[in-house]
Amino acid sequence: MVPDRRMACWTAAVFLTVALAGQALAEAQPTTDEKTKTEQAEVPVNGEVLFATSCGWCHQQGGRAAGRGPKLAGSKRDDDFILNRIKRGKQGAMPSFEHSFNDEQIHAILAYIRALPAQ
Ligand code: HEC
Repeated sequence: MVPDRRMACWTAAVFLTVALAGQALAEAQPTTDEKTKTEQAEVPVNGEVLFATSCGWCHQQGGRAAGRGPKLAGSKRDDDFILNRIKRGKQGAMPSFEHSFNDEQIHAILAYIRALPAQ
């Protein structure tokens, strides 16, 4: 009777260990995904920085003055025009940014342009 009980106890211990280890592994997985998500969310999309690095050398003073490209501050163009211009560019004048930026970034640049003082 005694050895049987010990055996049962040992078996239970093994099962418990395996179950706990399995659970620990299962829990470790979503934590990794969670971390990746958080890291992506933490990268801020900053229209001003994107503009300064990609557009500023043609649209001078952060788009406040004309350079190789026209002044963008106070633009009368509608959102669609500006979004399309950024995506498609203009042959011989302005490069296309469709493959450099995602929609969120392009919208951040539009918001930056809209926030420029008109004067
Ligand atoms: C290589 C120089 C160059 C770069 C870089 C550039 N542009 Fe331009 N952009 C131009 C030129 C030149 C025009 C005028 C094209 C034309 O003749 O209509 C223009 C026109 C525009 C217009 C239309 C203005 C209007 O009212 O007609 C917008 C909006 C614009 N650019 C936004 C941007 C943004 C945003 C970026 C960065 C993502 C950018 N550009 C990068 C040269 C550039």
